[in-house]
Amino acid sequence: TDPDTVKLGDGKDVKGTRVRIFGRVHRERRQKENMFITLRDGYGFMQVILTGQLAKTYDALTLTRESSMEILGELRAVPEGAHAPNGRELHADYYKIVGKAAGGDEAITNRVSKDTEHATLLDLRHLTLRGETASKVMIVRDAVEFAFNFVYKELRMRKVSPPALVQTQVEGGATLFGLPYYDETAYLTQSSQLYLETCLPSMGDVFCIEKSFRAEKSLTRRHLAEYAHVEAELDFITFDDLLEHLEHVMCRVLEVTLSDPTIKQHILDLHPEFKMPERPFMRMRYSEAIDWLVEHNIDFEEEDKDKPPRPHKFGDDIAEAAERKMTDIINRPIFLTHFPAEIKAFYMPKDKEDPRVTESVDCLMPGVGEIVGGSMRMWDYDELMAAFDREKIDPAAYYWYTDQRKYGTSPHGGYGLGLERFLAWLCKQHTVRDCCLYPRYFGRCKP
Ligand code: 4AD
Ligand code: MG
Repeated sequence: TDPDTVKLGDGKDVKGTRVRIFGRVHRERRQKENMFITLRDGYGFMQVILTGQLAKTYDALTLTRESSMEILGELRAVPEGAHAPNGRELHADYYKIVGKAAGGDEAITNRVSKDTEHATLLDLRHLTLRGETASKVMIVRDAVEFAFNFVYKELRMRKVSPPALVQTQVEGGATLFGLPYYDETAYLTQSSQLYLETCLPSMGDVFCIEKSFRAEKSLTRRHLAEYAHVEAELDFITFDDLLEHLEHVMCRVLEVTLSDPTIKQHILDLHPEFKMPERPFMRMRYSEAIDWLVEHNIDFEEEDKDKPPRPHKFGDDIAEAAERKMTDIINRPIFLTHFPAEIKAFYMPKDKEDPRVTESVDCLMPGVGEIVGGSMRMWDYDELMAAFDREKIDPAAYYWYTDQRKYGTSPHGGYGLGLERFLAWLCKQHTVRDCCLYPRYFGRCKP
């Protein structure tokens, strides 16, 4: 009879059955007369043992890592004291090389490439993706993205798909990618926020998971030119509602993600000391953060490098390094709130009690810093028009956004979460570049 085809991680306890498997050679070694192959298929690993004549064929003697194979055999428990994935191995009675790999391929997996330049690894991303770390991060990413969809659905939120080609800015003109668009100019979107806001009146609370684009010129470990942006917009809420929703979504997404034992194991392999964040998240006002930085002697670095660093003062934009130092020392998620209007986007409304600051929030995570930016939105027409004026943005192109304030306005707010930054925290990766399939950043647009 024709044996069933199984994925390599499936049927963990099935032993004594004959199965067919497909995969690529992750590792191979010879031991006396036998040959051991660890096969990989993206779902798991399986140890295969070739014995007798099967271990002596030309194909077996010249087997190279990454070659793809079809193998038939019987699943057996590994002998006492021996180790193999899921405590079992396949005793092959037939195999075929489907595609022989070139060999000399040591550089393609992360086990043997620790000293290789990161840029070289990224040029070879199509191959380094096969490494254990890279593939685990990508598999966790899939699970996290699914969890966001799931959790938003639990909250009865609607998913929409705003355009990537736009003619407006959201987060300042400096990071816009422009491109010719027929006879006009268009930009790649920096955020879908403004479009999400227009969906509230007919669809209720909405979210999207789309790409956002930023022409960031700085090479940092947390900036990409193209990133996955999880954005949500909620109608008829207060600022406190927004913070509570955000905390719920982040914790529930972690819960759903970790409920899959394979994914949980991947996360623990990548981030052994990972713990569920404690609720409620720490709340810290921007002004308290400035005091904290002064007390801890973390200075403000002047843009003009000839000027010496100085203590932080109210109104400073807290830079990436200072923010990360603070987050690492506090070592738990922080909702940093109430930023001054001058350092935040034009659409953020003033706080009623303290008009120096806005109803805004960043969520900071240890190891990464800011992973979420959100706020309430100005919902009064005149206030918004004044904000455009202050920022010297011509409101003409935003008629569809300002109309919102004319046709049944409402207090609303939302946020954007950088998926790669969330993953850098969750999977303890040094850089967001390792948290996407093919990173795009200043100087790189390949492979
Ligand atoms: O703080 P940002 O710029 O906020 C917005 O775009 C809002 N319009 C979102 C909203 O309210 N709907 O970006 C939000 C998040 C950041 O906290 C960060 O995690 C991520 O997007 N992000 C980037 N991630 C990678 N590379 C970049 N260049 C990023 N810029 C922002
Ligand atoms: Mg931000």
